[in-house]
Amino acid sequence: MAQKQTILVTGGTGYIGSHTTVELIEKGYNVVIIDNLSNSDKTVLDGIKKIIGTKPDFYQIDMCEPDAVKKIFEKHKDIKAVIHFAASKAVGESVEKPLKYYENNLISLIYLLKAMSECSINQLVFSSSCTVYGQPEELPVTENAPIQTANSPYGNTKQIAEEIIKDIIVSKAELNAVLLRYFNPIGAHPTAHIGELPNGVPNNLIPFITQTAAGIRKELKIFGDDYETPDGTAIRDYINVVDLAKAHVIAIERLLTSKNDRPLEIFNLGTGKGNSVLEMVKTFERATGISFPYTIVDRREGDIEQVWADTTYANEVLGWKAEIPLEETLISAWTWEKKIRNL
Ligand code: UFG
Repeated sequence: MAQKQTILVTGGTGYIGSHTTVELIEKGYNVVIIDNLSNSDKTVLDGIKKIIGTKPDFYQIDMCEPDAVKKIFEKHKDIKAVIHFAASKAVGESVEKPLKYYENNLISLIYLLKAMSECSINQLVFSSSCTVYGQPEELPVTENAPIQTANSPYGNTKQIAEEIIKDIIVSKAELNAVLLRYFNPIGAHPTAHIGELPNGVPNNLIPFITQTAAGIRKELKIFGDDYETPDGTAIRDYINVVDLAKAHVIAIERLLTSKNDRPLEIFNLGTGKGNSVLEMVKTFERATGISFPYTIVDRREGDIEQVWADTTYANEVLGWKAEIPLEETLISAWTWEKKIRNL
């Protein structure tokens, strides 16, 4: 049997990182996780073990310490590629604490890239976001759409991170990178052993819905019904986190088998379909049989009206497509919420 290849997953106990770790191990990779546990919990490793029967190597490390990642590369000389998820991700918090975001999301990236260069690890998959497009003029949005001025420090860190990676590649360093621009990841693993664990009051729609359905929140506030959309509520492209995780494995395979034609590739990861907030509420109620109270309130500052992905490039080049139906995804989110609340 061919020797297993080892992948470093930063932020591997987080929401997308944990689902990607499961998919990587299922495909025969070894995974080494580093995470500072600032927005996740060690029990995630138990969840991973329940799904795939093995716990990945784990190090509680803060990537803002200059040599922290390098020490891991020196210890695990078989690491062949890195998937870099570790970052702070709350848009609202980033407006309040911009320095935290610039430090956590950019200093850590710089140290990672330096360590990769010094240890000759040249394959990188980076977590980017559709936030780089702002409100696109044309929908669905393609990877060639213009990047717009970010409307939060969080969004800005994703744009600057993309620029940093591009500049390194322009400098003719050995780096090969795949930038994955996520739309709105939702849902949980079908086993309900891992899922999203938001800190405090959730900012994102689906955790807020599942917590309201579970009786933890009084009601869902729908931010605005006066948008120029069919039902007046904002539209997003909600993608199942397991579908999203699978795209990372394909990106890694592509990098490790040198199938990438260019040192930098950028892919939208979404379903290609937009759903309004009200459609999400109705679909959740239909799929789970659970109703919950909601009210319409003012628009949330900084929200865009509508965005969904053109996924043609990922379909054609990666051979990847989101497959899990929305109803199934919402049921998985609800099953996970019930499990963590002992309902
Ligand atoms: N919404 C509500 N009520 C809530 C929460 C959300 O009506 O309690 C609405 C929002 O106004 C928005 C939609 O549901 O119209 C989705 O909101 P989310 O907060 O779930 O997601 P966003 O699209 O605002 O943000 C997501 C990621 C960000 C990323 C952004 C890129 O969370 O990290 O997509 O567009 F930057």
